[in-house]
Amino acid sequence: MCGIVGAVAQRNIVPVLVEGLRRLEYRGYDSCGVAVLGAEGPRRVRGTERVADLDAQTQEMHFEGVTGISHTRWATHGAPTIDNAHPIFSNNALAIVHNGIIENYESLRDALRAKGYQFASQTDTEVIAHLIHSLYRGDLFAAVQGAVRELHGAYAIAVIHKDQPHTVVGARAGSPLVVGYGKGENFLASDALAVAGNTDRFAYLEEGDVCEITLDGVRIADRDGHAAQRAVHAVQAYGGAVELGPYRHYMQKEIFEQPRAIGDTIPAADPFGADLFGANAREVFDGIDSLLILACGTSYYAGLTAKYWIESIAKIRTDVEIASEYRYRDSVPNPRSLVVTISQSGETADTIAALKHAQSLGMKHTLAVCNVATSAMVQLTELKFLTHAGREIGVASTKAFTTQLVALFILAVTLGKLRGHVSDAQEAEYQKLLRHLPAALNGVLALEPQIIAWADEFARKENALFLGRGLHYPIALEGALKLKEISYIHAEAYPAGELKHGPLALVTEAMPVVTVAPNDALLEKLKSNMQEVRARGGKLYVFADADSHIVSDDGIQVIRMPEHYGLLSPILHVVPLQLLAYHTACKRGTDVDKPRNLAKSVTVE
Ligand code: AGP
Repeated sequence: MCGIVGAVAQRNIVPVLVEGLRRLEYRGYDSCGVAVLGAEGPRRVRGTERVADLDAQTQEMHFEGVTGISHTRWATHGAPTIDNAHPIFSNNALAIVHNGIIENYESLRDALRAKGYQFASQTDTEVIAHLIHSLYRGDLFAAVQGAVRELHGAYAIAVIHKDQPHTVVGARAGSPLVVGYGKGENFLASDALAVAGNTDRFAYLEEGDVCEITLDGVRIADRDGHAAQRAVHAVQAYGGAVELGPYRHYMQKEIFEQPRAIGDTIPAADPFGADLFGANAREVFDGIDSLLILACGTSYYAGLTAKYWIESIAKIRTDVEIASEYRYRDSVPNPRSLVVTISQSGETADTIAALKHAQSLGMKHTLAVCNVATSAMVQLTELKFLTHAGREIGVASTKAFTTQLVALFILAVTLGKLRGHVSDAQEAEYQKLLRHLPAALNGVLALEPQIIAWADEFARKENALFLGRGLHYPIALEGALKLKEISYIHAEAYPAGELKHGPLALVTEAMPVVTVAPNDALLEKLKSNMQEVRARGGKLYVFADADSHIVSDDGIQVIRMPEHYGLLSPILHVVPLQLLAYHTACKRGTDVDKPRNLAKSVTVE
């Protein structure tokens, strides 16, 4: 979602500000802009095209400066137009960029209007700009401190003022902001990645912090206005472009990286040791009586799969909730429950808020399964398990999902072992399955040509149903989500037993029904559900495995997975669904890596 970069230097920093935006592009945005301080006040260039266009414009105009801020915006308040693009000005005196949402912007706007302020945009950000302007008495830091006290909601901001050269003031609450310490120059960014290469020394601002960067120093105050020190970490964020290599899109590349990503996520030594989750994990795991998993989107489907594993292997009751629902409903907290948050980015606003909500209800045992070590979520939990998917650029999550599944399977077996439900022989078998997983995935990826042939047919459809049962129901949900988010085909998933309770009414010859059909305990039940579809003329597209004994016939096409993979079968079965969505989207000519209206990191509610 939105991205912030700020810099103070003795060189022209526009290339740094624009390059920072380019690195944050993958998170999703619909407009962008950059502002620098000039002799007469701030100057800006904004656009609703790509960062590359902004770059071309700034070069053409010889747009230069030594103090500046830049932004990629994902529209929340106001359409993605030039007027709403950041940086936003107040009275040609100050410029601001903002990530997050200000909930009380309407009342603040009314109060500012009453003071004579005029609004040139529909953004909540302009309220902050005018508020800071109204409080400015020659000290930008103090004005920002005063302004943020009046804000309700989430924000990370960076501000420059015409009377304070070589100064950028930032503040954060609910949205991340880091300070980059350079030599004779300093930086602000919503992610260290944006300015990596200019410095590798970063401090993560805390909730309510206000900071000021100048040429030779950084000043930070906490939410009570007291001077604060934040630990400076050496962070080797990789800022270079991720090469596409032989692939057409990052999503395709990331699908094919899954054997490597999974191999990297499986610990080299004992994969089921409690200490993998943190030094005191054993003690925590011994004291819990249930799990509460909180996540959004694809990560939520990983959680749903984990419920099957944890309840069957470790025999521990597990609830899975959509984070944005959990945070606002009255629930019955259980202090002996382990709260598990799952997130690729570790920045998802709803998941972070749900975690804090659970903590506020007295649930102190928390674990993050996350792909970003430096993310806010990882800082908030007692225990952590980091997945090693590597940077995922495609908005549609693929390798992050399968590595989350690996982490959650490891959690299930670890808990099962501690509770005496996993014998040595079973443990050895699970270990063997895990170690062989990358090779098994390579076998599945080799099915791509067959899946491309199916994609030809899907590209002409406007609807699709996905069916699965048991462990593979969440995989059907994930397959449907992948198809809708990148190909814009309406897709729904059902546990196959639910068909006759409603969705069967939708089944006609025009309705493709994708079925995930491994040879597990529910296969015979699933076959009956498939007959219900065939009897109504529906077209079945079945992913079976070697032992499923389902063959292609009239109204049924089968792609056979190379091997049956037992409890880890969901990790294999999701891959052809990713490929089907990907190739269908390619044939429909959509923007696969940056689907419309979506963002990679959903940092607002
Ligand atoms: C997946 O393809 C999605 N784009 C989306 O559902 C994503 O999984 C969700 O926003 C959660 O993100 P997170 O894992 O970074 O928390």
